[in-house]
Amino acid sequence: MARLGEGPVDWLLTNAVLADVDGHGSLRIEEGWLHVRGERICARGTGRPPADLPHVDAGGAVVTPAFVECHSHLLFAGNRLGDWMRRQGLEPDDPRLGTGGIAATAKATSALDDAQLVATTLARLAPLARSGVGTVEIKTGYGLSAPAELRLARLALEVAERARHDIGLDVVVTFLGLHALPTAPAHERRHIVDDMIGALDELPAGVRTVDAFVDPAGVSAEEARPFLEAARARGFDLRLHVDQFADANGAALAASLGALSADHLDATGPEGIAALAAAGTVGVLTPIATVLSGTRLRPPVMALRDAGVGLAVSADANPGTSPSADLRLAALLAVTELGLRPDEAFAGITLHAARALGLADRGTLEAGARADLVAWPVSHPFELVLSHLPLEPWRPLPD
Ligand code: NIG
Ligand code: FE
Repeated sequence: MARLGEGPVDWLLTNAVLADVDGHGSLRIEEGWLHVRGERICARGTGRPPADLPHVDAGGAVVTPAFVECHSHLLFAGNRLGDWMRRQGLEPDDPRLGTGGIAATAKATSALDDAQLVATTLARLAPLARSGVGTVEIKTGYGLSAPAELRLARLALEVAERARHDIGLDVVVTFLGLHALPTAPAHERRHIVDDMIGALDELPAGVRTVDAFVDPAGVSAEEARPFLEAARARGFDLRLHVDQFADANGAALAASLGALSADHLDATGPEGIAALAAAGTVGVLTPIATVLSGTRLRPPVMALRDAGVGLAVSADANPGTSPSADLRLAALLAVTELGLRPDEAFAGITLHAARALGLADRGTLEAGARADLVAWPVSHPFELVLSHLPLEPWRPLPD
């Protein structure tokens, strides 16, 4: 398979319907062309392309930037099928039907050896790469102790290395150091927070973002703050899970710390929304988890939009609340269940998802962006976010 940056230095993609996001929503350029130099787009236009260079004919396909999955928990072992059954009032009667929440996934994850865990995660990534995704964020978070989270950080980086090399997928690793704490007195929980602050100094280079789950189901804003401030002081970018099951002032905390993103937002109130807007923090919606969690909460999309908060969309793949890694399904549900417009959903899995990761070089077809392109056999870009019917995209690359 040809790779980005291989082949001729200069080439043209012609005969494409370019689907992109500009400052006012999405943009559709008929009979578009892109001039690619090395790994980057250097110009784009419509009609007759400027120079006689080697070219790839898109055959009239819709061409998008590769999608960006900005929030996933794909590094785990086991399953939580028993938890899902219990939510339906069914009693799991087989030990292979995993139960017990995040702690159960942590136990199963610790039981798998390193090579198996890396292979399991890579197997989950391969279909994503084939489905038009070019960048995926992977969080640690099923370790729960400092040594176990550091192990997962190391393995996530190994996955990143292999994914880049074997399937051309870019993986960003986030250290989710505070995911769930045991139900214990405050001072015992504080010990774990201190351990995780210590772990920040041992994180392998290559981990650039740090996360915490600020929610009654995770940690309080007060518990998370020292950890997140320590991470920020060490130069990490912050991402936060916030207010998934109740307003825990997580969005306000994320904004006050200058986090790149605040994710979930199902129960975020007006103060959190205003704070996100003022700070320029991206809001990441996780519609599959929202719909399947059964709480009937819905993120305040209208208020977020009115306040001017940029909205990304993620599948939030994980065994406990969102057992799917399908970004197009997430986009569809963002429209049908959360009230996003289709152009906003498209921006949510491209430009704003890249912003949520602090990556300014992707999620767009603007000159200067990485030429990580996907061609889709559809007649309109909205088919990518308003339909979940199977599609076989391809990568337009020169020989
Ligand atoms: O994004 N919110 C916290 N973390 C995950 C769920 C993890 C789990 O239940 O295993 C989420 O929904
Ligand atoms: Fe999550």
